[in-house]
Amino acid sequence: MTCTVYAFDAYGTLFDVHAAVRRHADAVGPDAARLSEIWRAKQLEYSWVRTLSGRYRDFWTLTEEALDFAFAAVPSAHKNTRTDLLGAYRRLDCYPEVPEVIRALKQDNKQLAILSNGSPDMLAGAVSAAGLDGIFDAVLSVDEIKTYKSDPRVYEMVATQFRVYPDAVSFQSSNRWDIAGATVHGFRTVWVNRAGAPDEYTDLSPSAVLRSLEGLTQLD
Ligand code: LAC
Repeated sequence: MTCTVYAFDAYGTLFDVHAAVRRHADAVGPDAARLSEIWRAKQLEYSWVRTLSGRYRDFWTLTEEALDFAFAAVPSAHKNTRTDLLGAYRRLDCYPEVPEVIRALKQDNKQLAILSNGSPDMLAGAVSAAGLDGIFDAVLSVDEIKTYKSDPRVYEMVATQFRVYPDAVSFQSSNRWDIAGATVHGFRTVWVNRAGAPDEYTDLSPSAVLRSLEGLTQLD
């Protein structure tokens, strides 16, 4: 089946979640990388716990709460960088290959979407900072249905938006757990294993594994 819709996870896949701390690393201090790791890990943990317990709060709130936990866990990190870090998170760098790959897919008449936990204003800021305004046919935020990945209802948003069956959708994510959820839903799944992480969820395998989004256009 040739995929007609390409849906992308946002954070970690299109946008570099560690770019915010990297931009202010000197001001944060020597444990900046650890702060960034904890920030991301807690942001995700909060999304899962809030989904399982039915206590939704938007992703921006979780991002703030996770940063506050990270500061508490890393006492050497300078808390006066909080405003700068949150500001940078709203305008993260995209990975270098992203604009070219997205434009090539567009040229090939694919329909393009973002499917993300991110709240709509976060996603709008990130898309605009990456210079990708107007190129996506849909920027889908879980905020519309107030639950997080990997609730099956999140993945359903793509097929509903484009009125296609799941097997017409190619879903790209760097998050292996997100790929597991999308595989359950019947998408073609492309794990963008940027970090060279070991495989997991072996009964829910991706259709393909790439090191970056480069090579995506050759998969069909
Ligand atoms: C997202 C999170 C998973 O963009 O990074 O949905």
